[in-house]
Amino acid sequence: MSIIHVHDKSFQPYLTAEMIKTRIKEIAADINKDYAGKRPVFIAILNGSFIFAADLFKELTVDVEVCFIKLASYKGTRSTGQVITAIGLDTDIFGRDVVVIEDIVDTGKTLSEFLPQLHHQQPSSLKIVTLLHKPEATVFPIPIDYLGFAIPNEFVVGYGLDYDGLGRNIPAIYKLAE
Ligand code: IMP
Repeated sequence: MSIIHVHDKSFQPYLTAEMIKTRIKEIAADINKDYAGKRPVFIAILNGSFIFAADLFKELTVDVEVCFIKLASYKGTRSTGQVITAIGLDTDIFGRDVVVIEDIVDTGKTLSEFLPQLHHQQPSSLKIVTLLHKPEATVFPIPIDYLGFAIPNEFVVGYGLDYDGLGRNIPAIYKLAE
C-alpha cells in the first residue's frame, strides 16, 4: 500500500483490509457469545457504517435483524442549535436488545444526542459497536461495548469513511499523511 490522494489531501496506509477483517471476526465472536439465544436488532448509522455493518453482519451467527438509519441535524428552535433526528427507524425497539453500529466515534457528540432518543423508547438493552474510536478527541464520553480499533486523533478515510464525500470505497483505512 502506498500514499493515496483524496481531493486535495494525501493519506498514508494505516489499517489494512486484512487487519480489519481479522478484528471484525473477533468482535463478531464476542457478539455471538453475548447474544446467544437472543434476537438483537442492529441499528446501523449511515452513511459511514455501511461497509462495516455489512462485513460484521456476515460474521454473526445468532438470529439478528438490522435497520439502517440516517441521522439528520437541523437547527433547533432553542438557542442550543443543532438537533439530531433519526430517519428510517421503522423498527419498534421497545423491549428489544439493541446494538447501534457506528463507523467511528470521534467527539461522541452524535451518539450523545442520539442514544437518549433510543433509551426513551425503552429497549431492554442498548449497546454500541464501533469500528474506530478516537479516545483523545472525546468531548462527550460514550460507553463503547465493542470496539474495533482505538486510534489517535487523526483524520482517516476508507472502508466507508469519507473525506468530503470521497474515499468510502477504499477497502483499507488510510490516515492523513504528515
Ligand atoms: P462525533 O459526533 O464527533 O463522534 O463524530 C462522528 C462522525 O464524524 C462519524 O460518524 C463520522 O461521520 C465523522 N468523522 C469523525 N472522524 C472522522 C474521520 O477521521 N474520518 C471520517 N469521518 C469522521
